Amino acid sequence: MIFTDAIELKRQRKLAIVWGVTFLILFPFLVTLGLLMRLDQGNLTTLSPTTFYALMTLHGLGMAGVLFSFSFSALWYLNGTRYVKLSTGIGYFVYFAILAGVSGLMIGTLIGKFGPGWYMLYPLPFTGATWSHWSIGVSVISLIVLGLAWLTGILHLLYTLAKEYGGFTHILGWQYLRKKENKRDLPPIVMITTISLVPGVFGFLVAAAMLIMYLLQFFEPTLNFDPLLLKNMVMFFGHLIVNITLYCCVGWVYALLPEFTGREWKTDKVLVYSWNATFFFILFAYFHHLYMDFAQPRSLQYLGQIISYASAIPATAITMFGVIAQLYHSKIKWDIIPLMFLFGMAGWAIGGFSAVVDSTIAVNKVFHNTLWVPGHFHTYLLMGVVLFIFGFLFYLFSEKGNRHGGGVAKTGFWVFVTGGYGFVLMFYYGGVNSIPRRYSSYAGISINSTATTGVHLAQIAVLFIILVLTGLLIMYISLFTKLFRRKEIQ
Ligand code: HEM
Repeated sequence: MIFTDAIELKRQRKLAIVWGVTFLILFPFLVTLGLLMRLDQGNLTTLSPTTFYALMTLHGLGMAGVLFSFSFSALWYLNGTRYVKLSTGIGYFVYFAILAGVSGLMIGTLIGKFGPGWYMLYPLPFTGATWSHWSIGVSVISLIVLGLAWLTGILHLLYTLAKEYGGFTHILGWQYLRKKENKRDLPPIVMITTISLVPGVFGFLVAAAMLIMYLLQFFEPTLNFDPLLLKNMVMFFGHLIVNITLYCCVGWVYALLPEFTGREWKTDKVLVYSWNATFFFILFAYFHHLYMDFAQPRSLQYLGQIISYASAIPATAITMFGVIAQLYHSKIKWDIIPLMFLFGMAGWAIGGFSAVVDSTIAVNKVFHNTLWVPGHFHTYLLMGVVLFIFGFLFYLFSEKGNRHGGGVAKTGFWVFVTGGYGFVLMFYYGGVNSIPRRYSSYAGISINSTATTGVHLAQIAVLFIILVLTGLLIMYISLFTKLFRRKEIQ
């Protein structure tokens, strides 16, 4: 640990709270868009298809962006108050640039009705568009701004960590693999920050190159690019951002869980091997998104399946064992923060498992583009990442030495968990019943019984989403009470 003076601590904490409050405003807004989509699919309200797809696009891009931004900001806070000195100026620059990007996206989708889905599959944004032409330019430029903001923040964090720990290979933990005795301990959160964010840099660069091609075509409509290349690029980016968001969260569990169990969680050879293997796997597992693209070389399809299986093992298995070792016979008090971390781990494991099921070629032939797909990623995002984030927010908003959640927080938590699992269950059940994803109305399904099942499942999902929102509201009461009562700075 480095010594961080009181003023610096206060600055970094203020930045983290600004991020936290922004997350707490944007998150329920984006959940409400999800609720509107399910109400529409359940015939409980009527949205025009143009509005449905604009909301779906804002919901998908917004959720992915907000979750990644907050996860990154939490890593920034923990590294910047414990291990390195980070510039709060750069921190605020990143924050305001992200706000600008999000505002641009809202204008593009809510006013311009930009609606090609989060992945804007080429040539969709330009062909047969139901949205105004300007909304393509505004949305693409907003995404470029977001990418540049994240890149700036990531590079600053990685550079300062590498400088503090004696070079890039040191923050990857490679010194643990040599025979020589290691002179300085590397906190696991520093290694996981590196392993999460370096692939993120590749992802953002690839996304930037792709978005620039979109922008060129926006200004010069006669241009034409290779759709398969662009699909590879967008899936590479999309797969990476979701995975690294999870890993960022896991990073702070390594740092914070020991404060509740009273046991150390240190870096060693096994941890270094596992996380470094993950570094490699997350770059190539995305091929499983392209099984239906028959023009893709067959060897890449096989690679997609093998790497998807392999990527599920090292970081997940070693972290789960680590969590068990932390908890087994420890005198942990099951308060809100460790509870959130434990359930977050469960969400990661359950969602991860159903992702591996879907990455199996034989299964994917049946489940591809059914509701199974949103089922798996909503599990590890809503019941994984979001729970990790709330665990961190309870940590940040409460006073040192008094990190108990209390009855209100726990009630909110159980209501949220019940609602969340009920909501994702309706997606899984829809998947096994062959309900397609991304349908604004199931009336478009020609098999009557399938259409009716889709509508009923959407209606049940609405009830669970209301539980999710109720759980959130109760947790907000507890969180804000803590924040306003808290006086000290760390
Ligand atoms: C209770 C909270 C949530 C609700 C009610 C909700 C609802 C929905 C619905 C109804 C869809 C469209 C499903 C379809 O028919 O294909 C959807 C898609 C999506 N959701 Fe959520 N969601 C929630 C949380 C999240 C979270 C936490 C994330 C995190 C990233 C997320 C990311 C996405 C993405 C990426 C899509 C796909 C959009 C696309 O296909 O372009 N959602 N969500």
